[in-house]
Amino acid sequence: MNNPKAPPAAAIEAALKIRFGTHFGIPADQPGLDALATMAGHRSIRRFQPDPVAPKLLRLLFACALSAPTKSDLQQADIIHVADADKRRRLVAHLPEMPWILDAPVFLVFCGNNRRIRHIGEWRGKPFANEHLDHFMNAAVDAGIVMMHFISAAEAAGLGTCPISAIRNAADTVSRELALPPGVFPVAGLCVGHPAAAGHISPRLPLEVTVHTDRYDESRLREAVDAYDRRRHDNHPYAKQRRVRQFGEAAFYGWSEDKARQYAEPERADFGHYIRRQGFSLK
Ligand SMILES: Cc1cc2nc3c(=O)[nH]c(=O)nc-3n(C[C@H](O)[C@H](O)[C@H](O)COP(=O)(O)O)c2cc1C
Repeated sequence: MNNPKAPPAAAIEAALKIRFGTHFGIPADQPGLDALATMAGHRSIRRFQPDPVAPKLLRLLFACALSAPTKSDLQQADIIHVADADKRRRLVAHLPEMPWILDAPVFLVFCGNNRRIRHIGEWRGKPFANEHLDHFMNAAVDAGIVMMHFISAAEAAGLGTCPISAIRNAADTVSRELALPPGVFPVAGLCVGHPAAAGHISPRLPLEVTVHTDRYDESRLREAVDAYDRRRHDNHPYAKQRRVRQFGEAAFYGWSEDKARQYAEPERADFGHYIRRQGFSLK
């Protein structure tokens, strides 16, 4: 999804300038530049061509995704390919504001799974002694890593993707439609297809905020967030403000205002109940 004509070092430099607002000085002889250019140029895609993704390619992407590292080799992530169009419609009926979910040629749901290891313990006659929050987290992290590996593989193959955590807004529906048994839970959906538009590179907080050396440091956080708000606004301003009736029209509407407004309301506050009902005590 980068400019195919630009040499990879120049493509990375251009992408990271938008992303972080700074130059990195990429040496032209740095190994792995093509892969790095794909990663640096990442963008979520929400407009897709109608062309299907070839089943053979999809299978290859599943295999690449599930080649990801996995905690203790426990392999606690599954991918559900929602191939039935009616099922997909029912799954996301609560998300009319995200039409890209129905437009995408492929829709997947990445799940955490601690059911298999429980089965294996039973078959081997061993107690299951890990009924705690960390155990839930391991499966959730594994599923996230597998999804990210899928995204990287898909982007390397020229496809576009968009993760969808909003499927968890209706987790019971997801469970019912996908027949998820106890111990299996959705982490996120993923739209996949051939991009119909290039999308845009979304700027990130500067590395000074998110990369730390030897100790956590937020001493310049406020100034950095203010500067990031301005840089992001110059690059790609928000098309509309969130919750104007509640918070009014802001004269300057940056990322931090948007995120503060977003999290001023509970989001998926019932997800813990759902996860407990799926058999996790989260102790
Ligand atoms: C776990 C996860 C869940 C997400 N859920 C949604 C979603 O429900 N709907 C959506 O349109 N985008 C979703 N996104 C995409 C993010 O909005 C996007 O990654 C972010 O705005 C940064 O943009 P970029 O990916 O183009 O860099 C999600 C991304 C992640 C990683």
